[in-house]
Amino acid sequence: MNRILLLSTFVLIGLAAIPARALDNGLARTPPMGWNSWNKFGCDVSEKLVRGAADAIVRTGMKRAGYEYVVIDDCWQDSRDAAGNILADSQRFPSGMKALGQYIHSKGLKFGIYSDAGRATCQNRPGSRGYELQDARQYAAWGVDYLKYDWCNHDETQDAQTSYEKMRDALAKSGRRIVFSICEWGSTKPWLWAGNVGNLWRSTGDIQDKWEDKERRDGTGVVQILDLLNGLESYAGPGHWNDPDMLEVGNGGMTETEYRSHFSMWCLLAAPLMAGNDLEHMSDATKAILMNKELIAVDQDAAGIQGKRVRKANGLEVWVKQLSDGSRAVGLLNRSGAETEIKVSWADLGYPEHLNASVRDLWAHADVGMHKGSYTAKVASHGVVVVHVAP
Ligand code: GLA
Repeated sequence: MNRILLLSTFVLIGLAAIPARALDNGLARTPPMGWNSWNKFGCDVSEKLVRGAADAIVRTGMKRAGYEYVVIDDCWQDSRDAAGNILADSQRFPSGMKALGQYIHSKGLKFGIYSDAGRATCQNRPGSRGYELQDARQYAAWGVDYLKYDWCNHDETQDAQTSYEKMRDALAKSGRRIVFSICEWGSTKPWLWAGNVGNLWRSTGDIQDKWEDKERRDGTGVVQILDLLNGLESYAGPGHWNDPDMLEVGNGGMTETEYRSHFSMWCLLAAPLMAGNDLEHMSDATKAILMNKELIAVDQDAAGIQGKRVRKANGLEVWVKQLSDGSRAVGLLNRSGAETEIKVSWADLGYPEHLNASVRDLWAHADVGMHKGSYTAKVASHGVVVVHVAP
């Protein structure tokens, strides 16, 4: 009797230890990078805007830095024809979606689109419910490479996992490999079920272009999203990522220091990096943030380990992301109102204290010497110092 109990316990422990299987479409092995129209332009999308964004990605060097997907968010849709085919707004997209996809592809970039698992999108355009396979085939015919799939206007009886599986299966049958970006705002804890349903899933509500929403404790300013993402690291990995939402860098609601922190923390979280600003009119400061190649390398590290917070006191935090060669990227984040020193000790990083490690500052783009046991830096209020520590 006891032996049977013992055996079944082992079997259960064994099963629990099997990591969640990633959606096996071979895509998004590192967090997807690109641009999405929503944060800056909302419903004001058109082929002119999207072509301009694609041109800017190439001209500014963003493509070289790794940005690849050009995603049209809500409001490109108009209606369905008598046969149920989804039609794009012909005023705003007079050349049609296929031609737009060809243009994006001609720049060496990839084409992304948006729909919704309910009857209508968040802006009340036709959703895909009941048209999953037809829409997936249409996207494939247009050359779509990425689908963001929202959760507005779903039926009360609609189950999130089943709805997203339906579109995953439709995409698989479409004849084209399409990154599947789940957007149900974390409402049904998608990290628990989405590992083999989507390549990424929004873990939180819509980001605001703010450091912190003081009125709402559950708000989605940058640092509030960090608090919600911390602890979800075991669910992320190559092909399946937590998505803390698109970037607000360059949209004007935060200081340059805060935008640097926002970008740094997204990189430490192995987050998808979808720029959400006006790429045609970027300041040099915005470009320097979005194209910090040393930080992008942290985000895109092949091991795909999401960083986590290892220390927190009085608004001063230490975050660590383990990289594929065993070295660490470390974020010293100052959420307090005054410039302060923040220290990371090697014990926080899982290294023995006696180790000598070389330290490089990824914003100063400079080596800052060999250090034994710890490293301390002065960090501006709402700022971050990100260092690479290699024993
Ligand atoms: C939802 C999503 C946003 C955006 C809008 C579009 O709010 O979470 O990211 O796609 O819909 O209407």
